[in-house]
Amino acid sequence: MLLRVLGTAAGGGLPQWNCACPGCAGARRHPSRRRLHDSLAFHGPRPDTWFLANASPDIAEQLESHPSLRPDDGNTRTPVVRVVLTDAELDHTLGLLRLREAAEIEVWCTEPVHKALNARLPLTDILSPYTALTWHDLPLAGAGTPATIAGLHVSALPLSDKRPRYAADEPSHPAWSTALKVHDPGTGTSALYAPALAAWSDLLDGAIAGSDCVLLDGTFVDEDEPRRTGISQRTASEMGHIPISGPEGSAHRLHRTGGQIHYTHLNNTNPLGDPAAPEHEQLADLGLRVAEERMVVTL
Ligand code: MLT
Ligand code: MN
Ligand code: ZN
Repeated sequence: MLLRVLGTAAGGGLPQWNCACPGCAGARRHPSRRRLHDSLAFHGPRPDTWFLANASPDIAEQLESHPSLRPDDGNTRTPVVRVVLTDAELDHTLGLLRLREAAEIEVWCTEPVHKALNARLPLTDILSPYTALTWHDLPLAGAGTPATIAGLHVSALPLSDKRPRYAADEPSHPAWSTALKVHDPGTGTSALYAPALAAWSDLLDGAIAGSDCVLLDGTFVDEDEPRRTGISQRTASEMGHIPISGPEGSAHRLHRTGGQIHYTHLNNTNPLGDPAAPEHEQLADLGLRVAEERMVVTL
């Protein structure tokens, strides 16, 4: 399989339109620091048959800027767009509205995510006059047969019941927020994509150990970052993102694992947005790194 990184920023992107924090100001001064909203494209045995993991607000620019994701020469349109969702957050779903010019959109997601995207954001009602939208159930990892999408086996590992703010009063469910497990039956390799990690679990630990490449929530570098930078009164964990460093952070749990691990979904307050930040070296000592925009991983 081939995995193409289309973006690595948390909601708002880097820079965020209304923000002049050091990270956003730095990205305006140094365009190489700009990051689009986190999203991935995957293909399996056929390079022209791919799917997206999440539909970010930047989706049209993301597809246009990658030649292999544009319509083939000789075809007037990309016939079908396939999207697999990790959750129902706006930074992972608003792009579905931007795909309305598609002839057909196929979406895979878990049950609570489907409900949020129909009962709360009425995406089917809005998009149906424009395009053929088909919803598919995304099977939970370890429970039943994974979905086969673009020749790859895809399932959702439940991570937490963190609901988007617009659906905060919806009932609890373990698969509001998930990690995508993508397995290539041809090569036997696996990737894991978890851009919103609210809590660690044994299930996640096992999935990371069994993956050749992991893209993991790197929203905040430490627990106090949201409060210190003034964007929230809550800690990173309280905002549904376990931080990278510190006793409750993900880094110390990860350095024991084998495959390649990249942090993604960086918030604009995250000092790691600056390539000269000393935190990069601390991660490198643990065998960890921050995902680069437009990075390609072949597994
Ligand atoms: C998150 O990652 O916590 C959400 O996307 C935040 C938001 O956009 O409200
Ligand atoms: Mn987000
Ligand atoms: Zn900012």
